[in-house]
Amino acid sequence: MKKILFVCLGNICRSPMAEAIFNNKVRKLGIESKYISDSAGTASYHIGEDPDSRTVEIVKKNGMKIDHLGKQFLKKHGEDFDYIIAMDASNRKNILNEIMGSNKHKVYLMRDFDPLEKGDVPDPYYGEEGEFDNVFKILNRSIDAFINHIRSEND
Ligand code: 4NP
Repeated sequence: MKKILFVCLGNICRSPMAEAIFNNKVRKLGIESKYISDSAGTASYHIGEDPDSRTVEIVKKNGMKIDHLGKQFLKKHGEDFDYIIAMDASNRKNILNEIMGSNKHKVYLMRDFDPLEKGDVPDPYYGEEGEFDNVFKILNRSIDAFINHIRSEND
């Protein structure tokens, strides 16, 4: 079993959406006994909270299930997970500052896997509603490519 952790700032918008998309896709592919994902935020603002209602809405609109409560990224996650996927460069910097050197090779940027465009997954928290749709599309195609990548490494 390989464990993937998606990480953003608040753990209520982008990373729980990524977790939901990933877990739904691996279930659909019938490989859920091999891969599981979770998510966390580098900030402590939303510990124990449900995902943002706009994230819940877009995930459900796309026929997927979401089940997560906010938690903060901790040093031990560097040990516990095989792949740590940051939504943006600031998240990546904070993750790398937190974890042990021997685990730093586990850290990637989500859009390293985006076949269309590299960069940050934009923070939609203060954005307009269309921004959640944009984030969903970015995550959906990036996670397809990410799943292909981890299958090529592990299957
Ligand atoms: P996320 O979005 O990092 O994608 O979950 C945010 C959620 C909350 C805040 C910032 C970004 N906030 O400042 O509370």
